[in-house]
Order: sequence, then structure tokens, then C-alpha cells
Amino acid sequence: MSTQTEGRFGKTMVPGETSVCVIGLGYIGLPTASVLATKGFHVYGMDVRADVVDTINEGRIHIEEPDLDMVVRSAVNSGQLRAGYEPQAADIFILCVPTPHRPDHSPDLSYVEQAAKAIRPFVQPGNLIILESTSPPRTTEDIVVPLAVPDGMKVGEDVFVAHCPERVLPGRILLEVVQNDRVVGGVTNNCTEKAQAFYETFVTGKVLGTNALAAEVTKLVENSYRDVNIAFANELSILTDRLGIDVWEVIELANRHPRVNILSPGPGVGGHCISVDPWFLVHADPDHTPLIRTAREVNDKKPQYVIEHVAELAKQFASPKIGCLGITYKADVDDIRESPSLDIVRGLRAANVGEVLTCDPYISSARFNEFELFDLEDVIEKSHILVLLTDHRHFKKVPRKVLQEKVVVDTRGVWR
Ligand SMILES: NC(=O)c1ccc[n+]([C@@H]2O[C@H](COP(=O)([O-])OP(=O)(O)OC[C@H]3O[C@@H](n4cnc5c(N)ncnc54)[C@H](O)[C@@H]3O)[C@@H](O)[C@H]2O)c1
Repeated sequence: MSTQTEGRFGKTMVPGETSVCVIGLGYIGLPTASVLATKGFHVYGMDVRADVVDTINEGRIHIEEPDLDMVVRSAVNSGQLRAGYEPQAADIFILCVPTPHRPDHSPDLSYVEQAAKAIRPFVQPGNLIILESTSPPRTTEDIVVPLAVPDGMKVGEDVFVAHCPERVLPGRILLEVVQNDRVVGGVTNNCTEKAQAFYETFVTGKVLGTNALAAEVTKLVENSYRDVNIAFANELSILTDRLGIDVWEVIELANRHPRVNILSPGPGVGGHCISVDPWFLVHADPDHTPLIRTAREVNDKKPQYVIEHVAELAKQFASPKIGCLGITYKADVDDIRESPSLDIVRGLRAANVGEVLTCDPYISSARFNEFELFDLEDVIEKSHILVLLTDHRHFKKVPRKVLQEKVVVDTRGVWR
């Protein structure tokens, strides 16, 4: 830590003398809280879910993320990390609550509002409040500031408020929380500097300062860029299918052009980031975001295309058995939010085109009871058609000989 940082912001930036209250202990909040705890901060995590709080206080985790169990166990055992149901006073508050969208794609900021209101009685002069949740333009200034900052305290002088969006990749969160470059946008310059000083105590990547609005939009732009590029790939996958050529080969060849980099098509786009965040930009200015909207629509229609394709293939069997591999939205995670793979399984079941047998090694029947899940071996053995929906590592090992005996729909290009 630089002398300047210590001089300017005093003891609040020395991990061993600084307390952090993390609001929301999910995929972002828990890794962040436990990494901060291992760096020496005194961390208190708060969540509204009793099972989450209890599990963490037992030194265990409620989500699937490599090595997180070890880090949480050691943070809890050392006394650096505790969890509870109410916020408590701290030097730094970090909001990591969900920011979903509603069925009409407008942002649902109720969790941010609740979290901001909840910390308000605990906010004291000198505190830093950081919104890490991916947020629509102006959320930090228009929602967090009025709801979280107590009357009479001036932002930028008495309390400091900033947005610092997360860019981690599930499966690599513990590494990326530390290694990624971070964009930090304060409500005032002082807020930016104070938040930068905090992130510089544990981030090894660059900590780039800007204002709150630019930080909010930067995060949304990153995911919109990916969504538009994937929509292009998904559109190509349908076009090439109809032309009778291999989309993966076409993309591989096109990407040999020095200035072309097409992303991979798939069964659609899922998770609660890429499939949600672009809508925040569309909602902010519907008249000037036709490309971002269309990309969302193209990606949202892809599951239906897969369902119709499989239904067509099923017609060749008297009593078709359709094996669906994977329901999570991406490989090797246990996250089913906004998952196109799950939508496809639901669609195939509803379409009644045959018996649908589904497996997902990352989802236990204890956690998921919408329909029965089977072992991979069972599904492979019993199915006439195998539909690869999520590219979990387990599925990549299915022997070629077995695949040759089945009708195969590989939405991820892993069995090519
Ligand atoms: N998961 C990712 O890979 C990822 C990546 C980048 C950004 N983000 C963003 O980070 C934010 C959090 O995402 P997540 O994946 O961690 O969500 P999550 O659903 O895994 O975790 C959120 C947690 O917040 C808790 N919560 C809800 N309301 C609360 C409240 N008022 N007070 C305290 N706790 C509350 C929930 O019980 C839950 O445990 C979202 O804005 C998301 O878009 C997520």
C-alpha cells in the first residue's frame, strides 16, 4: 500500500484495521467476503437467507465454486469472516445483491433498494459504500445515495459512494476477484479515489478510476458486446444448419482472418449477466438501442429452434427417448438461472415429442425437484437421441463409439 493512500485515507485502508460489511453472500458476495477476510480485513457478511448465513457460519458453502469451500472454512475458523441476518457497522459496505430484470425486461432494483435502506442506520462519517451489483445507468447516484446515505452527510466529504462492477467468470471467481482489472466509478472524485485505494489493497490487476455512471455503463457494454457477438454466431448456426454446412468449421475458418473473432454459438444465452444486462441499456434508451435489443431477441429464440430441430429428429422413432445432457447455463457450474439448456428440456417435455431423460452432474435432486434427473450412464444407454446442452467436462468424455450409435444434437460443438 502506498504512503499516499495511507496518508490520505488513514487507517480505513489498512486491512487489519478495517472492517467490511458485505451485503448479499451469493456467487459474488461470498467469494469477495472470503478473499477480503484472507487479506486481513475483518469481514461481516449479511444475507436475508437463513440457510446461507447458517451454512457460512459452519464454515461451509452453499454454491459451487472451485476452492471456495477451503477459503471460507479457513476465513470462518480464523474468525475473520462471520455472517448474520442484519447489517452491522463497518468502515466499508459492499452491496452484492441481485439485479434481475422483470418479465417485461425492465430492471428490478428492489434488492438494491432494500440493501441500501438496510445499511443506512449503520452508516457513519468516513464510511465507503460500494455497489458491486451490475446496475442500470444512474443506480448508484439515484438509488444508493438517497437510500443509504443518512441525512446531513455529504457524499464525497462525509461518506464516499462508488460503483465497482464485478467481471468475474464463474469457475474462476477466486482468482479473478484478485487478478482482473477493475473499473471504479465514484459519485465524486474523492469517492473514486477512496474506492480505488480500497481495491488496490487486494487487487493485483489495474484499478481504473472513472465516474459512477461511466462504470455502470462500462459493465453493461462489456456484456452487451458479448451478447451481440454470440447472437451473430447463433444466427450463423441456424443459417449454416439450413445450408447443410458445419457452423464450427465456418467460424474456425473465418477466425483465421486476422481481424475476425466470432464467438461460439450455443443453445441460447443464459446466466443472469449476459442475458440480462443488455436489457438495462435498452431500457435506458429504447429508441437508440435496436442492435442490442435484436441481439437479445436472436439469442432468446435459439432454444425454440433447438426444440423444433430435436422434435423433427424424434419423428423417426416410434417411442423416442431423448437424452438431454446439462441444465446449467454454462459448463462446470451449478447455476441454472436464465439457462437456455433448462428451457430446452422444459420445452421438449411440454412438446410431448418423446420421453425426455435429463442429467446434470452439477445439480442434485435434493436441490432440484422440477423433474427427475438421471445418471449420465443411464441417459446415454436408454436414449435414441442425445442432445448436448451444456458442455460439462463429464460429457466431453462420452466415447465416440457410443455417439456413433445415437442421433446426436451437439449445441456446443464439443463432440465434433
Ligand atoms: N454471478 C456472477 O458471475 C456475476 C458476475 C458479475 C456480476 N454479477 C452481479 O453481481 C450481483 C450479485 O450476483 P450474484 O450472482 O452474487 O447473485 P446471488 O443470487 O448468487 O447472490 C445474491 C445474494 O444476495 C442475497 N440478498 C438478496 N437481497 C438481499 C438483501 N436485501 N440483503 C442481503 N442479502 C440479500 C440473496 O439471498 C443471495 O444470497 C448481480 O448484480 C449480478 O448481476 C454476478
